Amino acid sequence: MNNAPIGIYDSGLGGLTVWREVKKLLPSESLIYLGDGKNCPYGTRPVEEIVMLADAAVARLIAEGCKMVVVACNTATAAAIDFLRTKYAPMPIVGMEPAVKPACRDTRSGVIGVLATERSLEGDLFRRTVAKYGEGVEVVPVVGKGFVELVEQNREETSEAEAIVKSAIAEILSKGADQIVLGCTHYPFLLPVLERVVSGRGVTIVDPSPAVARRVAQLLNEYNLCAIPDHRPSYRFVTFADETYRQQLENKATACCSES
Ligand code: DGL
Repeated sequence: MNNAPIGIYDSGLGGLTVWREVKKLLPSESLIYLGDGKNCPYGTRPVEEIVMLADAAVARLIAEGCKMVVVACNTATAAAIDFLRTKYAPMPIVGMEPAVKPACRDTRSGVIGVLATERSLEGDLFRRTVAKYGEGVEVVPVVGKGFVELVEQNREETSEAEAIVKSAIAEILSKGADQIVLGCTHYPFLLPVLERVVSGRGVTIVDPSPAVARRVAQLLNEYNLCAIPDHRPSYRFVTFADETYRQQLENKATACCSES
């Protein structure tokens, strides 16, 4: 038993889509959310730089007393997960995996789309995942250009957001995909817009965050790190940016909990 917090990290607000799933599944666990904010977006940065940023973030969460870290950022996972697991062993570190496996299993049309950042789609993790699960399936990777900025600036529910999303997924739809994988933790905040854009086309949108929360639960058990069942959790938000941004994280977290 261990009542220390779980650290959850992203380049910005996106990882809150994972944070809310972990909070829902594990209501006795205290959570510290680190949204970098200062260096967001990560998606177009060089890999070496992302590794450095992720290293600083994990070090900060450990300094805050975390017993486990969730890298709730596909881009940071793709760039740095092996490095982080080696450097911070034996602490368990959970990363994001593009949900290519369930999408390939469930597709009827044989075509799936994957939306993610540039760096995630170029990475080895994506290549390996497609090679492992994508046999016989056409995988259409598309960068969600401008998506992260829409979320960071709270512009998800605007006509501009709808236009950006529509143009990004046009290729996926024209190729006949019936599954669209959200390979960036910011993107589930655009789910209402995405659902409007694909409405009536028989397309399922796949968000991996509930599966990541289940993996966190599994590892807590394996490592004997669960909080005591009646532990009263605390939720903290930290950032490398300023207090205004920290407050924004907290507000977004409150808003996304009342939605689900
Ligand atoms: N939320 C992130 C991801 O899952 C990073 C987005 C960004 O900073 O570009 O990839």
